[in-house]
Amino acid sequence: MTSETGEATEAANQAAPAPQSDTWRRALATRRTQQADGQGVPGAQASRVDPDVSRRAFILGSFWTGLGVSLLGGVGIFLDFFYPRNVKGFGGPVPGGNLADFPKGSDPQHFLSGQFFLVNLDPSESRPGGSDGGDGLLALWHRCPHLGCTVPWRSGFNFEGDKGWFRCPCHGSTFTKAGVRVFGPAPRSMDTMKIDVDAAGNITVQTGTRTAGGPDNPTRAI
Ligand code: FES
Repeated sequence: MTSETGEATEAANQAAPAPQSDTWRRALATRRTQQADGQGVPGAQASRVDPDVSRRAFILGSFWTGLGVSLLGGVGIFLDFFYPRNVKGFGGPVPGGNLADFPKGSDPQHFLSGQFFLVNLDPSESRPGGSDGGDGLLALWHRCPHLGCTVPWRSGFNFEGDKGWFRCPCHGSTFTKAGVRVFGPAPRSMDTMKIDVDAAGNITVQTGTRTAGGPDNPTRAI
C-alpha cells in the first residue's frame, strides 16, 4: 500500500511542471527587455562610450600636451639664453678713445678686446705701405682673411724696401696701413668695421658691423 502511494506521488511530480519563483521570472523578463532594446533601437549600443577608450584618449592627450608645453618651454629658454643683449666687447660697440688720441699718419693702435686696429690715415703718406690715399679714421679687424690668425702691425717690418706693414705671422700675408692686401695667400684685404664718432670726438667701433675687405678700404675712412 505504501509503495503504491509513493509511486503515485512521484508520477504526479513528473507530470506537473515545477513552479517558477518570482525572482526567476523577473530575471527572464529583464533579459528579454534588454534583447528587445538592442534589436529595436539600432545604434543604441554603438552610441555607448567605452570608458577604456575615453580614459586612453585622455591619457594620450595629456601626454602630448605636456610634451608640447615642455618643448616650447625648452625652446624659449634656449632663445632667451643665446639672444644677444647688452653685448660688451667683440660683437658689440667698443669704445675706441678720442680723435685726439690718433694723430694723422701715426701707427695703428690695437684694441685687443674689440679685435680691431684704429688708424687715422694721412693721404700724404704715399709710401707703398702707407695710407693708399685714404684720409681719416679706419677700423680694421685684426683677423687675417686667410685662415684667421691675428695680424699685428709691424712698424719695423721691411717689405720691398719700405718699413711699416700689417704682416700675418702664419703665412706671410702683407697689408698696407689701410689694410689693403699686397702679398700672401689672403684672399682679400683686411675687413673693416663701422665707426661712430660723437660731437666730443669720442670713438665707438661697432665690431658687429663688418664689411669684407677690398681695394676700396681707404675710401671707407671717415
Ligand atoms: S692666416 Fe694669415 S696668411 Fe694665412
